[in-house]
Amino acid sequence: MSEAAPTIPAGSAHNRRGVFEVGERIQLTDPKGRLHTITLEPGREFHTHRGFLRHDDLIGAPDGSVVTNTAGVEYLALRPLLSDYVMSMPRGAAVVYPKDAGQIVTMADIFPGATVVEAGVGSGALSMSLLRAIGEHGRLLSFERREDFAEIAKGNGRAFFGGDHPAWTVTVGDLVESLPATVAPGTVDRVVLDMLAPWECLDAVADALIPGGVLICYVATTTQLSRVAEGMRLHGGFTEPSAWESLVRGWHLEGLAVRPQHRMHGHTGFLITTRRLAPGVVPPERTRRPAKGSHPVVDGVAVGTHTTPAAESAGATQPGSLAALDVPDDAWTPEAMGERVKSDKTIRRVRRSLTETSDDN
Ligand SMILES: C[S@@+](CC[C@H](N)C(=O)[O-])C[C@H]1O[C@@H](n2cnc3c(N)ncnc32)[C@H](O)[C@@H]1O
Repeated sequence: MSEAAPTIPAGSAHNRRGVFEVGERIQLTDPKGRLHTITLEPGREFHTHRGFLRHDDLIGAPDGSVVTNTAGVEYLALRPLLSDYVMSMPRGAAVVYPKDAGQIVTMADIFPGATVVEAGVGSGALSMSLLRAIGEHGRLLSFERREDFAEIAKGNGRAFFGGDHPAWTVTVGDLVESLPATVAPGTVDRVVLDMLAPWECLDAVADALIPGGVLICYVATTTQLSRVAEGMRLHGGFTEPSAWESLVRGWHLEGLAVRPQHRMHGHTGFLITTRRLAPGVVPPERTRRPAKGSHPVVDGVAVGTHTTPAAESAGATQPGSLAALDVPDDAWTPEAMGERVKSDKTIRRVRRSLTETSDDN
């Protein structure tokens, strides 16, 4: 499907309000509750096995309109919310779900005007929440080592914001090498890492963060959680980390049948935060005594002299999961973390669908 040229200032409130305009993505809900997303183009039609709908009937209509197709089927037309959009947009890599993006924005204290570093970009889902939070006067410096994923993310961002967001720069490259070349030491307010091996980036992140700056990492498994927690502690320039997960259960609301839904996303990922200490400061020693056997000695160093209730309940400081510290670097693959990896052919198709008619930047 071809995309019309953006007609609306990117990232502003303009493309979130008012009547439907050419080039916008609109979400249609049919009588069975099924969702269809279309991009409005003059003269174009949306066909199903039961009739078709003219885009021209929607262009200029207010958000929240009901339109009827040639077979008399009614569709509710709404501008997708960011949470709707990220769940239906084309993907290269797995996305951060809205429930976790909300936690990240709040718990990492992403504020308007902030300078935020993010890696990797993947499909750009989290980037959009971060851009929303920092606004047009902040800076989001996103790093992605796969060029095809960076293009997919930029395409998704353009389609949502109606053009290139003014606060967003996407750099293709590994964070560890690209970050020092992009930002001056001690100038970044917040860092958000969603990648397989965030512990590899701790030195680069510590150099970039301002004193008191927040680092938040999103990881899929307890083995990664354990490894990054121990990495933060061993670095010495960060506060004691804290970790958690969030579970969201939707509710079924029908007549007297008001109850939790039968299905839910039982697991997405764990979040772990820490803050940058001022240069030269040593974290105060914790007086709480660790559980016996919870801190093995690796290479003569007692690993993890502190622990957190969240990490404990996730099993992260149990001897079994601490084996993660001994795992060779090349063993941390998406497949090993249980991710369903898309084929190169699928990635090429997603990339083409997002970039074939939009401008390069
Ligand atoms: C799960 S995806 C990120 C998804 C993204 N947060 C979203 O919501 O759409 C992880 C990405 O990190 C990238 N990556 C992993 N390590 C990296 C590094 N050291 N520097 C830059 N990108 C990295 C991978 O190529 C992958 O695209």
